[in-house]
Amino acid sequence: MAKDLEKEKKLAAKEAVKSIRDHMIIGLGTGSSAVYVIKEIGELVKNGLKIKAIPTSNATQELAASLNIPLIDINSVNTIDITIDGADEFTSDLILIKGGGGALLKEKIVASLTKEEIIIADSSKKVEAIGKFKVPIEVIPFASNYVLRQIELLKGIGQIRTNADQPFITDQGNYIIDADFGLISNPAALAEKLNGIEGIVGHGIFIDLASKVIMGNNDSILIFERKGASHKS
Ligand code: A5P
Repeated sequence: MAKDLEKEKKLAAKEAVKSIRDHMIIGLGTGSSAVYVIKEIGELVKNGLKIKAIPTSNATQELAASLNIPLIDINSVNTIDITIDGADEFTSDLILIKGGGGALLKEKIVASLTKEEIIIADSSKKVEAIGKFKVPIEVIPFASNYVLRQIELLKGIGQIRTNADQPFITDQGNYIIDADFGLISNPAALAEKLNGIEGIVGHGIFIDLASKVIMGNNDSILIFERKGASHKS
């Protein structure tokens, strides 16, 4: 029987919000999985939970505001207690690809400030090696052709993401290049090379940022922490 991936996302979202306590600063992720989290948090706030939240995209900001979740400016804090976000792919050692929704830059900045980054996912996101999902790379438009050529030198094939035949524009006014490197045997080395290319403002390879992944798996969840996975329920 086909898996109900939406149900798996919801289950993971419900589990993830259990870690939230009064007075925490919470990072709110972006994407269809994160929407379940934001709605759960909206309910908790309605029932008296006292938190402040930092959104990772305009879409998340709008949704959170519509649910009366108190928002604060990221530049008013030095750390974020917990962030709950989605991913496009993850491995059991918590290497992720993110940015399918184009919000990778703020997601990575928020993750970098976060003490506990919880990733929620349905079971289709678990991979042995990242790279089937193309790596989203945010570039300033001025540099897009240069970056495409640099990606070629790294044996990748890049394509500027489009939306209705126009370049997709990020919340920061940049382009996204989706880059196919095949299955990535050394994500850290590739991440470092991408970090060094002028014009790239961020990329979707997340290493050492996630504390755990909560994955919905049919009617139960699986938790992946730094070392291996354990059944939770
Ligand atoms: C947004 O830019 C992304 O990083 C998302 O977190 C990621 O694409 C997962 O999205 P879904 O939860 O919609 O699969």
